[in-house]
Amino acid sequence: MSRLRTSPASSASASWPVGRGRPPTCETVAVTVVAVLSMKGGVGKTTASLGLASAAWHRKLRTLVIDLDPQANATMSLDIRSAPFTSNDVLSDARPGVAVDAVLASGWGDNVKVIAAERSLENRSVELGRNSAQRLRTALATAPRHYDLVVIDCPPSLGELTRNALTAANQAIVVTEPTMYSVRGAAEALEAVDIVRNTSNPTLRTTALLVNRYRPEDRDHRLHLSELHQAHGELVFAKPLADCQGIPHAQRAGAPLHSWNSPGSREAAETFDDLLDFILPPPPPEQPMINIRRFFT
Ligand SMILES: Nc1ncnc2c1ncn2[C@@H]1O[C@H](COP(=O)(O)OP(=O)(O)OP(=O)(O)O)[C@@H](O)[C@H]1O
Ligand SMILES: [Mg+2]
Repeated sequence: MSRLRTSPASSASASWPVGRGRPPTCETVAVTVVAVLSMKGGVGKTTASLGLASAAWHRKLRTLVIDLDPQANATMSLDIRSAPFTSNDVLSDARPGVAVDAVLASGWGDNVKVIAAERSLENRSVELGRNSAQRLRTALATAPRHYDLVVIDCPPSLGELTRNALTAANQAIVVTEPTMYSVRGAAEALEAVDIVRNTSNPTLRTTALLVNRYRPEDRDHRLHLSELHQAHGELVFAKPLADCQGIPHAQRAGAPLHSWNSPGSREAAETFDDLLDFILPPPPPEQPMINIRRFFT
């Protein structure tokens, strides 16, 4: 395990790409910090995290992906080869603002940054005492203000790492598949969000329940989707994500889905465009043009 530097003064701009001017001071803008979680493994948390990052990449938004899964799948798909500091170091240190030292450039270009995961993150999946779920939030401090979007990819459990993600986030997306246990699994994940909201993070809200690998021609899928609608109403995101081979192919190649050209990948990318629209704050209303001539004549 490496030790992070102490660089509170440098931290605000350390991750800001050269040549883009001063980091924005968006004190009044609530940056979207979204945790992507599920009760079950393999349902598409990393796919949803990367899909959102890819939609943001396509729009040239400044994006930070925080990988909190010891499997480090998001880290690999963002084409990170080595990481001197990881989310494990960030959680272990947890001094205010220290997370900035772990921010790395991704292989997707200047706008997408990463805090990488590593296997030893597993050691942090048990509770580390009082306030242990606050460690990521403390370590991030004001860092999210320098991005348009922060995405936190959670491990496949609702344990300590996911609690850290939910405490640092202001939105939660629960991912589920349209299968027999999905209704119950989704309810448990939503309950985990409620607990964190009620105990430590009142600003947290559940934004969407994303149904992944939906096949409309499958009767069981239609049945389970309708059960999810009955149980969770409008929380179920209107556009389920279809099965699409382009998704694993792009992930394996370490490329954004939006750069992938294969049957179905355009449709999957559009689902993430819509999900991104759904989670980002609406753009400010356009200011009416002032007719300067009228003032001076
Ligand atoms: N809609 C989809 N179409 C095709 N393949 C998909 C789709 N969604 C996910 N996959 C593939 O399924 C596998 C599991 O998905 P993913 O890694 O996103 O799940 P996860 O919930 O993050 O898993 P874990 O709990 O292990 O972290 C990956 O290989 C991914 O590429
Ligand atoms: Mg994953």
